[in-house]
Amino acid sequence: LCAASEPPVTGTFVHSTPRAAVEILQNCVLGVDDKGKIAFIEKHQDVVSLSEIWGFETSDIKQLGQYEFLMPGMVDTHIHASQYSYAGTALDLPLLEWLNTYTFPVEAKYKDLDFANDVYTKVVRRTLKNGTTTACYFATIHTDASLLLGELADRFGQRALVGKVCMDCNSYPNVKPVVTPRFAPSCSSSLLSELGEIANNNKLHVQSHISETKEEVELVKTLFPGCKSYTDVYLKHNLLTDRTVMAHGCHLTDEELEIFRETGSAVSHCPNSNISICSGILNVRNVLNHKVKLGLGTDVAGGYSPSMLDAMRRTLDTSKALTIQDPQHKTLSFEEVFRLATLGGSEALSLDDQTGNFVVGKDFDALRVNVCVPDGPIDLFPGEGPKVRQSSY
Ligand code: GUN
Ligand code: ZN
Repeated sequence: LCAASEPPVTGTFVHSTPRAAVEILQNCVLGVDDKGKIAFIEKHQDVVSLSEIWGFETSDIKQLGQYEFLMPGMVDTHIHASQYSYAGTALDLPLLEWLNTYTFPVEAKYKDLDFANDVYTKVVRRTLKNGTTTACYFATIHTDASLLLGELADRFGQRALVGKVCMDCNSYPNVKPVVTPRFAPSCSSSLLSELGEIANNNKLHVQSHISETKEEVELVKTLFPGCKSYTDVYLKHNLLTDRTVMAHGCHLTDEELEIFRETGSAVSHCPNSNISICSGILNVRNVLNHKVKLGLGTDVAGGYSPSMLDAMRRTLDTSKALTIQDPQHKTLSFEEVFRLATLGGSEALSLDDQTGNFVVGKDFDALRVNVCVPDGPIDLFPGEGPKVRQSSY
């Protein structure tokens, strides 16, 4: 639902704020200006004065159904659009062999724009269907195919960061280039330096992978002996900025997390991938305790599902697995995970001035959820109210 000059909507809104992991706003009315920005979100009882101020007819207001609510569109902070064609297969090898055996041969096919058009159309449509209104994509080394991915995201109405698109201006307001060194083992020091310079000179986003597996961490030590840690490699090449998002980080030390916090860089947690190719288990609680920005990612096709709802469930499962191992571990709540999938993701991508929750001035970027559609996936029981703790975290 991406509405410019649509009539106001009234009903229930569910979103996160920095103070409350889940805030339920009942009997509210939300209006959108002609630029698609949220103009107001107020109690419904004020609707008459709102209609006078904003110049709409109260009879035009769109009423959500009894079992409906609006929530912010979800943010996938890490997804390989180019790997969607084999999602759900090829999960039998560890990362470095997996890349050589399956990933690189498929990615080479993106020099063919027809192939790229087919897969990229499908991945944009599929992720939108799953509620991902913002995606941070890895494309491939092919500039034309990467541009095509940006064009498709724009055409279907998805906000996107697309790498590799090595340019410093673009014509889509909601699609931006993101500087994308694949990861330290596949980049020379001079390539990393040049990319750091491009990112900083042009104030561009940066995305890469870090500390996904122990084997990779060891490899980076031998490839960059002058660097103190994997994080230090990116730091020394000026790639850690407040517009940087690094996928995985399963094996980052506390000292490395401290560098993330100092530079304002973010972690993309991709639990389906981490489990599917046996990479590691990220302690999200520890990352959050270090005040490092964190969003969720599907990491298709290391992760086999393009669904952010799946990423949320696996984030909870992973956190519970840590609690089984150590009862002192404070398990993530589903409310916190909801926040990570929405507001947390927008912060991780430094897009929280535009999306992530229902705040006046941000884009109206919302999912309309109906928990009572005929033949839907869940059953409702009489007298059920929301079982959500309203406390802050
Ligand atoms: N590290 C470097 N490239 C990749 C990739 O394509 N997928 C994952 N999961 N990790 C990577
Ligand atoms: Zn990845």
